[in-house]
Amino acid sequence: MSDSYLPKDFLWGFATASYQIEGAPHEDGRADSIWDTFCRIPGKIAGGGTGDVACDSYHRTAEDIALLKETGAKSYRFSLSWSRIIPLGGRNDPVNEKGLQYYVELVDDLIAAGIVPMITLFHWDLPEELNKRYGGMLNKDEFVKDYENYARVCFKGFGSKVKYWITFNEPWCSSILGYSTGLFAPGRTSDRTKSAEGDSSTEPWIAGHSFLIAHAAAVKVYRDEFKAKDGGQIGITLNGDWTEPWDPNDPADVEACDRKLEFAICWFGDPIYLGKYPDSMRKQLGNRLPEFIPEEIALVKGSNDFYGMNHYCANYIKHKEGEADPDDFLGNLESLLKNKDGEFIGPETQSFWLRPMPLGFRKLIKWLSDRYGGPTFYVTENGTSVLGEQDLPLEKLLEDDFRVEYFRGYIGALADAHAKDGVDVRGYSAWSLMDNFEWAEGYETRFGVTYVDYEGGQKRHPKKSAKEIGKIFDKYIKKE
Ligand code: NOJ
Repeated sequence: MSDSYLPKDFLWGFATASYQIEGAPHEDGRADSIWDTFCRIPGKIAGGGTGDVACDSYHRTAEDIALLKETGAKSYRFSLSWSRIIPLGGRNDPVNEKGLQYYVELVDDLIAAGIVPMITLFHWDLPEELNKRYGGMLNKDEFVKDYENYARVCFKGFGSKVKYWITFNEPWCSSILGYSTGLFAPGRTSDRTKSAEGDSSTEPWIAGHSFLIAHAAAVKVYRDEFKAKDGGQIGITLNGDWTEPWDPNDPADVEACDRKLEFAICWFGDPIYLGKYPDSMRKQLGNRLPEFIPEEIALVKGSNDFYGMNHYCANYIKHKEGEADPDDFLGNLESLLKNKDGEFIGPETQSFWLRPMPLGFRKLIKWLSDRYGGPTFYVTENGTSVLGEQDLPLEKLLEDDFRVEYFRGYIGALADAHAKDGVDVRGYSAWSLMDNFEWAEGYETRFGVTYVDYEGGQKRHPKKSAKEIGKIFDKYIKKE
């Protein structure tokens, strides 16, 4: 036993998301989500990939649960496809019983296998119809009502079988990549398109605001109508990388590090824990950032039973001189892989944005714990792709020592955060159970602890990391 440790009932396992693994986009009544539509636009996805088949998990739940069991996982975080459950999405649209039933059976099978289900209600795949009808997240009032209805259908559908609920996964990605850079569905780049007056739109910030209100509305439904009887907990999952100054001797870079965390994480975290948007965001964005009306902030503040943390890597941060461009969603700074001495923050992976730095994980969770008064954390994603993995012959790529070392480093850092820094962390889901559809990067980047042979009948081959991760946890989780 190392001198750092994780608590006795620590819940570890793996995570996936509906659109990334399920396939079967039109089976049993499912309708399109914005990702189905987006993938059909030529040039949006590397290699022209779509989620039409993905890992075919819709037809392979037994196989996937067997994979989980083999690893010794105690929990499984997966997401529901809203457009399987309510194909048209809205509060007056019919519920698709077959779609709901698919997930009810999945939950039953997981429980029968001794695996705790952890459900994400929304992992980016908004029903396309809601986007068409009223612009999805851009229409706060409609979106909040429809999401609240969808959440209630799900809470009712699973009852006390599900104890862990996540309202939204990484709203930063849906808001910024979906409405500013256009790299993700629905692919809008509105705040890049200046009007004749030189002004720009506010879409990403409106989308973010809608996510916060919808999150809080669903939490209220859960707390008012289900929590006492079903005994579960509910929270939101936020993404965020750690930040190190590009030049540690430049106070402006040091300051920019915190500002980056505020724009990336506290945009959502501060309203939930502190009841307002960060001052740095208000200062730069002015009235582009919506204001909370008093009833909204009363709903949002305190709306997390736990903090769901997705974390992958760290970056060097270099401040920018002068007045901020209001469209700069990073916060008037550059996020870089190298520091001023030309050193990389971590080793290269297959993902252009991901350079591991395990100590950054410990620092970030402590930073968040301090800022938010010591909330309970569940790490809802952490993992890595491996440089060139997809080009190796099968027997070689299954020996994914790089990934094993990544987990060793990050899980060790988490145990340090818990045992030495006093962070209350109770669970961890590795990303991901298996290789899957990596959004705009298509199938070229693999994050799985299981290799999926997409062309070879979807056969699953566990990698070394699938076997090692349980041993790593075994070393850290307290026995009594
Ligand atoms: C976070 C997202 O939630 C997940 O969908 C994605 O595949 C991983 N990051 C890896 O990029």
